[in-house]
Amino acid sequence: MQIIHTISELRLALAGNSNRAFVPTMGSLHEGHLALVRQGRTAVGESGLVVASIFVNRLQFAPHEDFDRYPRTLERDAALLAGAGCDIVFAPAEGELYPETQGYKIHPPSALSDILEGHFRPGFFIGVCTVVAKLFNIVQPSIALFGKKDYQQLMVLRRMVAQMALPIEIIAGETQRSAEGLALSSRNAYLSEAERAEALRLSQTLRALIARWQAGERDVAKLEAEAIHHLRSHGWQPDYVSLRLQHDLGAPVEGQPLVALAAAKLGATRLIDNLEA
Ligand code: PAJ
Repeated sequence: MQIIHTISELRLALAGNSNRAFVPTMGSLHEGHLALVRQGRTAVGESGLVVASIFVNRLQFAPHEDFDRYPRTLERDAALLAGAGCDIVFAPAEGELYPETQGYKIHPPSALSDILEGHFRPGFFIGVCTVVAKLFNIVQPSIALFGKKDYQQLMVLRRMVAQMALPIEIIAGETQRSAEGLALSSRNAYLSEAERAEALRLSQTLRALIARWQAGERDVAKLEAEAIHHLRSHGWQPDYVSLRLQHDLGAPVEGQPLVALAAAKLGATRLIDNLEA
């Protein structure tokens, strides 16, 4: 496996093999990322290239967010990626990807990006779309893989690729969880032992919400408010708990596939999760 830090060296390493699967990450890798790498290998086969990027993208962090303390563990990440069958790690310094202020940005449509995560993290999806579009231009993959753990991000990027006619197939990976059900996340590293145990409540709350919908309760505002109240009463500071259509994250419709999504802070750590129903 090659570890490459510059765009010019990456282009040389990629030349001659256009069958490329790409997994963009911010590093501090766990089984969620590695599952995407293995899925990428399956998609391109042994003759294809699997490329992962590691770049903590300042553009998608608000000034008060955790950009500075986001865990950076390149050596460990590289060993994990090699074990998962990755061919090339692209880990650019900030000045390599953003040699000047990134004034040209991709603004996703507000219907998809000003709700849920976008409402509580203004500008987040502009930062994500901009860096992913730029990485796509650098890596020029035939396939790119994203996790359902970041459900709205996956949807925003799928729409970007479709609307911009990028010749890239987007593949979704299932959310990887601990044995107890906690969605794996680089930010779980911030949790104390007690918080880690409490963190299970987020997916449990989503499961309970979906169970009540499936049992016939249709007052969605009440279901969401009670889920938020439940989290609050256990010390969480929820941003949202919301039941939506899988298709476009619109309001739930009887008989159509739904997804329950949540974001909440536990102590200083903001966690997100979702469950399809
Ligand atoms: P990051 O949080 O590092 O996640 C990289 C990829 O791994 C994303 O597609 C994310 O959905 C996926 N992932 C994270 N946890 C997962 C889990 N438990 N199960 C399955 N997949 C999981 O998402 C980002 O980085 C950034 O926004 C990025 C797309 C790299 C742009 O900067």
